Amino acid sequence: MKLLIVGGAGFVGSNLAILLKEKHSGYEIICMDNLKRRGSELNLTRLASAKVEFLHGDIRNKEDLELVDRADLIIDASGNPSVMAGITSPVTPVITNNLIGTVNCLELAKKLNASFIFLSTSRVYPIHTIESLGYSETDKRFELQLNGEVKGASNNGITEDFPLEGSRSFYGATKLASEILIQEYHSLLNVKTIINRCSVITGPWQMGKVDQGVVVLWTSRHYWNRDLQYFGYGGEGKQVRDVVHIKDFAELIDYQIEHIDELSGQTYNVGGGMENSVSLNELSSICAEVTGNKLEIKGVEENRIADVRIYVTDNSKVTAATGWKPKLSVKEIVGDINKWIGSNEEDLKNILE
Ligand SMILES: NC(=O)c1ccc[n+]([C@@H]2O[C@H](COP(=O)([O-])OP(=O)(O)OC[C@H]3O[C@@H](n4cnc5c(N)ncnc54)[C@H](O)[C@@H]3O)[C@@H](O)[C@H]2O)c1
Repeated sequence: MKLLIVGGAGFVGSNLAILLKEKHSGYEIICMDNLKRRGSELNLTRLASAKVEFLHGDIRNKEDLELVDRADLIIDASGNPSVMAGITSPVTPVITNNLIGTVNCLELAKKLNASFIFLSTSRVYPIHTIESLGYSETDKRFELQLNGEVKGASNNGITEDFPLEGSRSFYGATKLASEILIQEYHSLLNVKTIINRCSVITGPWQMGKVDQGVVVLWTSRHYWNRDLQYFGYGGEGKQVRDVVHIKDFAELIDYQIEHIDELSGQTYNVGGGMENSVSLNELSSICAEVTGNKLEIKGVEENRIADVRIYVTDNSKVTAATGWKPKLSVKEIVGDINKWIGSNEEDLKNILE
């Protein structure tokens, strides 16, 4: 098995490469990355120690991708993963990175007769429809409270049947546009493909910042006793997300690689699910317990643009198809991140915001 992971020095890409190589020493793995994300350079020594080859390249340049002349499977873990991309920064880069770059990778997959696994996002689902879902409120969190009024939504979370009509951020739009093209490469050009619409994936080596990587941001701010704020929705940190440890996620990708023929053409929602859902307020308590530092967190009334009150993955389809379920709890995830920061304090203190 020869794997090409693009975005392979990033959080998901580097961890996938290392965990897959640990499990399958016979896999030949190449990671390509343009090292645009601050902190990705720290992963180069980890990749080298794991005997994963690194190629400095940009998926926007076909010439860079053509440096790879053989691959059985390509994992697209590259791009700009921030929901603020194109809103607080120019639009064109998010389109060229997240859409044109992915098309270049699909062209390479077609040329090399390689399969293709895509890391899409829960952000493909429109903001307004998510925000219109029924909810209730406890003193720590929002909860879904539905009577089946929207297809694909229940008190267990959001399935793949959730409607796709509406605005979703440039980030979500470029991912959905990529998904649509992936389906054509699958149906018309016989490329084997799997699309994973992921919610929050987290764990050690995620270079968390304000607009991406909330669990690492929260843990590191607690670790260093730095400021944090709850933005929007009354300023009490009741927004909820589901989170999955990168190790659990890697187990799913491992299964998908080994069962690509049977799973090809499918799209899955993938995340921590209801059991691993957490509000910011609850996350603060977990971080305080794990790090030993309790922060005074103030509320800011104003909502963040493109934010949603609550998103939780319903993993029913992926679990039925693969048997996969996340195993590690939110507390175990925060514990792992805390240990990682502690062992890499010097390198991380200027990178983690
Ligand atoms: N981490 C999450 O919670 C999450 C959730 C849903 C989807 N995803 C998707 O998973 C993928 C990986 O996310 P991540 O959290 O590892 O982000 P990351 O920023 O850590 O990794 C992305 C990597 O891609 C590289 N990159 C960016 N543009 C590139 C280009 N043009 N050519 C080559 N490399 C390029 C960056 O340098 C970085 O190392 C992204 O596509 C993201 O949208 C992530």
